[in-house]
Amino acid sequence: MCGIIGYVGDQSALDVALNGLRRLEYRGYDSSGVAVVGAGALRTARRAGKLANLEKLLSEGSEADPMPGTTGMGHTRWATHGGPTDANAHPHTDCTGAIAVIHNGIIENFAALRAELEAIGHELASETDTEVVAHLLEVELGNAAAAQAAAVPEDVTPRPTRPGTGPAPGPGVPADRTAEPGAHPLTVALQRVCRRLEGAFTLVVLHRDFPEVVVGARRNSPLVVGLGTGEAFLASDVSAFIAHTREAMEIGQDQVVEARRDGVTVTDFAGEVVEGRRYHVDWDAGAAEKGGYPYFMLKEINEQPTALADTLRGRLSADGAIVLDEERLSAQDFRDVDKVFIVACGTAYHAGLIAKYAVEHWTRLPCEVEMASEFRYRDPVLDRSTLVIAISQSGETLDTLMAVKHAREQKARVLAICNTNGSTIPRESDAVLYTRCGPEVGVASTKTFLGQVAACLLVGLYLAQVRGVLYGDEVAAYVERLQRMPDLVERTLGRLEPIRELARGLADAKAVLFLGRHVGYPVALEGALKLKELAYMHAEGFPAGELKHGPIALIEPGLPVIVVVPSPRGRAHLHGKIVSNIQEVRARGARTIVIAEDGDVAVEPYADHLIRVPATSSLFAPLVTTLPLQVFACELALARGLDVDQPRNLAKSVTVE
Ligand code: F6R
Repeated sequence: MCGIIGYVGDQSALDVALNGLRRLEYRGYDSSGVAVVGAGALRTARRAGKLANLEKLLSEGSEADPMPGTTGMGHTRWATHGGPTDANAHPHTDCTGAIAVIHNGIIENFAALRAELEAIGHELASETDTEVVAHLLEVELGNAAAAQAAAVPEDVTPRPTRPGTGPAPGPGVPADRTAEPGAHPLTVALQRVCRRLEGAFTLVVLHRDFPEVVVGARRNSPLVVGLGTGEAFLASDVSAFIAHTREAMEIGQDQVVEARRDGVTVTDFAGEVVEGRRYHVDWDAGAAEKGGYPYFMLKEINEQPTALADTLRGRLSADGAIVLDEERLSAQDFRDVDKVFIVACGTAYHAGLIAKYAVEHWTRLPCEVEMASEFRYRDPVLDRSTLVIAISQSGETLDTLMAVKHAREQKARVLAICNTNGSTIPRESDAVLYTRCGPEVGVASTKTFLGQVAACLLVGLYLAQVRGVLYGDEVAAYVERLQRMPDLVERTLGRLEPIRELARGLADAKAVLFLGRHVGYPVALEGALKLKELAYMHAEGFPAGELKHGPIALIEPGLPVIVVVPSPRGRAHLHGKIVSNIQEVRARGARTIVIAEDGDVAVEPYADHLIRVPATSSLFAPLVTTLPLQVFACELALARGLDVDQPRNLAKSVTVE
């Protein structure tokens, strides 16, 4: 949550920051702000509400360039401490107005720090946890200057630079305000402040007197570096700078990065220089644009065949085996597994629920799926033979990250399934399998859900293959069917007009129920989640068999009930049962919307609306049955006049617990 961009180079920092924020707004859109250092001044502007409000503010002034300068930063906020007001919008500044700070995360000990600052006369202007950082930096820089003056009061020579740290501060900059020769004073101050902070944070800071640097730090929150020619970027994710450079660097846990025109220096919080891992971003700026669609979500729904094909590519060999070369776990590690845990949140959790059916069926290993936010707090039983699969699109979800850390502390092996190269969860895991869905900007997950399901199926088949539970020809048969799935997804998307029309007609419905059995149950949960988050409508997903144990009391005349029907071929026993469930709700007046495969005639008499999908293997069916539900939620939300890319109260990347 919260989008961050920092810049130093030759371009207008304001332009770079605003362009970056346009791409980051999906991370939070309660308020936004910018700060630029130039012409001897630090200028800030911030506004509650969407980025458009800030842009309007900036365009209202009379100056052609309201914020001149080539060093700056921008922030788009998802409120935690303090409501979404102008005063709580970032950047926050210190008492002197020389230091500006933007922040993503929660500083848990901010109340104590604030009290300490107020006791020494600092006046804080906002209700945020962030503002304490600006004031702590002011204190640190003041202390360093005082120590320097006391040690060598007559010293006015330029401070030495560490190899590779670039030029000394420019004119007007105090010669040396830190006790550590060679280090940049702002960097040192931030290292010291970070050592005092508890919680999760990405911080980016600017100083009026140091236009040559923008400095960032991170703990449990995302921060990546963009390395351009004569310019550098700090950002929450690469989409913020992808229009300028595709060369990126990961910043590890508890590290500070000092970005200058000529490069970057990464240190830990103690000031030790560390190596950042460089990587090339394999998608371009066009992938993060709408490409002619009115909403990212519509584009991303339509990208699903490609996302699925790319996720499978290279992982299915011609002789029908699963190849997971990029794993950092060996085949023997997988053979040693005696239990599987899947941890994830939201949509990714639903992908995990689907995986459970496949993993247990194919491998005969017990598999538990748990919401990451609950996992570590209930003392799960894990050991060296437990494989924990952590599923996360962003790779930054704090609940999932904490579950990963907990699992590794218990000696379990952790395999991340992730869509974001360079993110934290893969780095903190033993191994990673990337879904290759490209950037997902719409806040509601669509294509990455399909990628996660596909990746889980690959892991399940791989486990069965290396453990010898499935014979080679059995794996090959599944592989062959899996390879056909991108085509089936494409065909399904091509025939969803009836569900669009139906959704438009239900814009005024009060609630919708979703029922499923077997893998159709997680699909029902996913359909309900999509409807809640996009259309702000009451929606619940239930296992159809559970209906009679309570939820059936919700059925009233006209209530839309969407039923995800298993294949009558693969799951004949379940199919008959769900047909009975459809009759039960219909008998009580529900309006039944039935998602059933081609050729399933048994459902026809009981379906008020019948949505057909191509026939597939039972375990692969979610890859097609989810699609009408995504389209249903999206279309219904649009019919209600809502913004499907940026639903209220949500953010794409949830980096607070
Ligand atoms: C819903 C949605 C969320 C995410 C959840 C986990 O459409 O997108 O429920 O699935 O916040 O996010 P990641 O996968 O980034 O860990």
